[in-house]
Parts: sequence; C-alpha cells; structure tokens
Amino acid sequence: MNKQSGSPARHTINVRKPNFDLESDLAHDWFDGSAFKTAFENSFSLLFPLGERAFIESVKHFEKDIKDPKLLDEIYSFYGQEAAHRKHHQQYNDLLCRLRGYELEELSKPQVIRHRDRYSLLKPIQRLASTVAAEHLTAILADNLLRDKEHFEGSGKEVAKLWYWHALEETEHKAVAFDVYKTVGGSLKMRRRALLLATYFILKDTFRGIFIMLKHDKQQWKLRTWIDAINFIFIKPGILRTAFLPWLAFF
Ligand SMILES: [Fe+2]
Ligand SMILES: [Fe+2]
Repeated sequence: MNKQSGSPARHTINVRKPNFDLESDLAHDWFDGSAFKTAFENSFSLLFPLGERAFIESVKHFEKDIKDPKLLDEIYSFYGQEAAHRKHHQQYNDLLCRLRGYELEELSKPQVIRHRDRYSLLKPIQRLASTVAAEHLTAILADNLLRDKEHFEGSGKEVAKLWYWHALEETEHKAVAFDVYKTVGGSLKMRRRALLLATYFILKDTFRGIFIMLKHDKQQWKLRTWIDAINFIFIKPGILRTAFLPWLAFF
C-alpha cells in the first residue's frame, strides 16, 4: 500500500463540538470598537457556508481513489470539521444580519451566482484544485492568527473564540485536500491558476461585503475607518502583508 497521506504518523485531526454565544458581540463593533476591523472579519465569515460545502463535495468526489487508511481517516475528520465550520458561520451570518440589519441575500449574491454559473461547470479536478487553493489561503491566515494571541486585542469575546477554533482546525487539516489532489494526479499548473482565481474572488467578495456593511453603518467616510484599514491590512498586524510570502510559496 502506497502512503498517500503526507502528514506525520502522530498527527491527528480532531473534530470538536464547541458552542458560541455570539449575540452580544455581533450586535456592535466587537473588534476593538473598530468599524473596519469588525466589518473585515464579519464579511470574511460570509464566505464560509457555501465555501465549506464546496470543499467537502470536491474531496468527496475523489474519496474512492484513496486507499491509504490514514488519509481516509483524515478525510473523514476534514468533513466533520468543515461541516461544523459551515454550521457555526451560518449561525454567525444569520445572527449578524438580524442584529445589524444587513441583507444576507444581497451580501452573498456574487458568491451564490458564481457557484451556480461558473463553479458548478468546472471539472471535478478543477473543483478540487480550488479547494486546495482556498485551503492554502485559509491555512496562511489561520497560522498567522494562531501566532498572534493579541489579534483581537485581548477582547475575550465569544466571536474571537470562534475564529481561533476555526483557525486551529484549518491548521490541523490543511494538508488533506492537497494530499488527495497529489494522489489523483492534479497538476502544479492547475493549482497555481486556482490560487490566483481563489485569491481574486476571496478578496473581491470580502471587500465588497466590507463596503456594504460600512455604508449601511454610515462609517465609510470616517477617517478612523480608513486609518484602521491601512493599519490592519498593511502595518499591524498587516493581515495581507504577512500573508504574502507564504502565499507566494504555493507557486
Ligand atoms: Fe473551515
Ligand atoms: Fe478547511
């Protein structure tokens, strides 16, 4: 039997069953009182319910080609973790929209249309390549978050716990889709292209959501909003600046 899992023998992926009481956090600018930083995280959360479902389905298609029991075990734990992320982000998004008056349908529209009209037409191996790419991106952000204990400014918020839980599990299962992709003969060229597309769409959707939320909250013309934006993205913690080199490593 060929080894198909690239993870060390003692590495395990644990499916946890957490609970989060998000109501009091999501009603206001929970992230350091900052409209921009709060909108950034809230908008990013919108991408997960549909994304996680697509990740699971893209791997499931190739499950029959996996013979290594270790990789199969990892795949089952991957399904468990991503399904839980999907559920908790759906609750997060529903609650957020109800509490703050955002329209979920309007916010998710480009992603829903893209999945229906473009993603669903891709070949299974292309869908798996997008999962590999998206998993690489989430693993970079997750790794940076786990190294930065003060990311949420010591707010001790439930919503911060949710993000740390998601980051921990993304780190645990980050190799699963990649190992499946390698096993079924996915090419370097295809996953490079998938990373460019995934990066473009994730940034586009996230920033679109941020602008809609800031406009709705009448924060879009405030100086603090954009000072926070420049700091958060490029300086401290520099969420995109610090992601750049590991992003490049994928190529
Ligand atoms: Fe996830
Ligand atoms: Fe994931």
